[in-house]
Amino acid sequence: MVHGMTGARWSGSAVAGVALEPVRWHSHEESANEPNLGRGLALGQLECQRSGRVAREGWDHGAVDVSTVRWLASPDGQALLRTLPTYDERQVLAETTRLRSQGFSADQVAAALTQQRLRARAVAKFGEFAGDLLLTADGLEQATRLEVATTHAHRFAANSLATVHDLGCGIGADAITMSVLGVTVHAIDADPVTAAVADANLRPWPDSRARVGRAEEFRAPLEPARARTGAWLDPARRTTGVADIHGRARRLYRLDDLSPSWATVLDIAAAVPATGAKLGPSFPHDRVPRDAEAQWTSWDGAVLECAIWWGPLARRRGRSACVLGSRTDPLEVDESMCEPEPRAARTLADIGPWVHEPDRAVTQAGLIGAVTGPLDGLEVEPGLGYVLTSSDTVLPYARRHQVLEAMPFTVKSLKAWLRTRGITGLTVKKRGVRLDEDSLRRQLGLGRGAGTGASATIVLTRVAGQQVVLVVEPA
Ligand SMILES: C[S@@+](CC[C@H](N)C(=O)[O-])C[C@H]1O[C@@H](n2cnc3c(N)ncnc32)[C@H](O)[C@@H]1O
Repeated sequence: MVHGMTGARWSGSAVAGVALEPVRWHSHEESANEPNLGRGLALGQLECQRSGRVAREGWDHGAVDVSTVRWLASPDGQALLRTLPTYDERQVLAETTRLRSQGFSADQVAAALTQQRLRARAVAKFGEFAGDLLLTADGLEQATRLEVATTHAHRFAANSLATVHDLGCGIGADAITMSVLGVTVHAIDADPVTAAVADANLRPWPDSRARVGRAEEFRAPLEPARARTGAWLDPARRTTGVADIHGRARRLYRLDDLSPSWATVLDIAAAVPATGAKLGPSFPHDRVPRDAEAQWTSWDGAVLECAIWWGPLARRRGRSACVLGSRTDPLEVDESMCEPEPRAARTLADIGPWVHEPDRAVTQAGLIGAVTGPLDGLEVEPGLGYVLTSSDTVLPYARRHQVLEAMPFTVKSLKAWLRTRGITGLTVKKRGVRLDEDSLRRQLGLGRGAGTGASATIVLTRVAGQQVVLVVEPA
């Protein structure tokens, strides 16, 4: 059994092949039977630190403050959360009235219903464990999804470190997953509410705790303890509270805008050999530290992060990709699998019967040579990622499509082609062609639905400097 755990709730399917051993989380009912349940969150004196930083750093938890988090984590709060039905927007008024009539305060009801709403949203990241967590909206948005956090945790667990310092722990997704694997985590977060939430979420693992603190104030232990210490940083990459046009927190891309800063990450990596840090997928290749591994990870085809691993946590030096998904076995691709100089198509005559679409983690990591090499293929154009081949070999980290037709791309000629064949349902893939899909559809007179006619999939890209449309069939 994994250290410190007595609960028996885990289905390994989500991380099959990633997990080295079964991973199981406590339910709150199980936690409630443990002696550490009465442990206070001990954050009272820190609440006063909050106000100044909210304005400066953009934390906004609505009505939730540390005392509300403390109440939600108490046996009374937990009991209420357990009795609430699945969140349903239409039932909020009725539920509020029902709970108020039972004597709960307006703040308690609002906080509990907010948790239900966030937990429903959290299922996408945490599956069945969403119902075990306390959440904040910002914390959930920034949290590492469970399967990816599991890959992080295994790096630390495999190194038998006595302690890992999670320096900016958010609601604790990474810290929890490490704790599940038997790693003792000392977590801090600069935001008191977030730290309180993380501490409550870590309750099933008595040795792991979260408190308020700033990464900049972290002091690495001296030898010999230093060699058995790890550090994990997942700097905030968005400005919370500032929404983009889609209502999502605005993303920050510049390394200089991270909090804690990239310079702090490098300082800590210099002081603690076993350091890992999670950065955005657009992390520049030329900033990958010498001697470190930079690994881009995707989930179901979307690249979620680039994690930098130093010292014993690095499995190799240089760039690698980790491909994860709900329907595929996890796999890693690295520079040793790449041909040294991937070639690109030189004329339209290079378009063969197959086009391969590498997983985005592979292309973002700059590992196209791991696709062109084994397939003896040609990239459509340097940097665009599609690979043309005449062999029908398949790779587990690239989708293969049969090329049914290829032609130079203009809206007029594509429209005529579609009309002649009675095509009304169109799937559009594109790389290297600047156009808005909705406006293309308008010009083609096609919606997003299937329509009443035939369907087709097209790839809009550039081959040897020319815009082309490839009509393809996924193989
Ligand atoms: C991306 S989140 C961490 C998410 C976490 N790894 C998880 O999976 O739940 C980054 C966190 O860093 C915290 N933070 C920002 N600047 C910090 C600093 N200088 N020191 C400590 N924490 C900081 C933010 O409050 C935020 O909760």
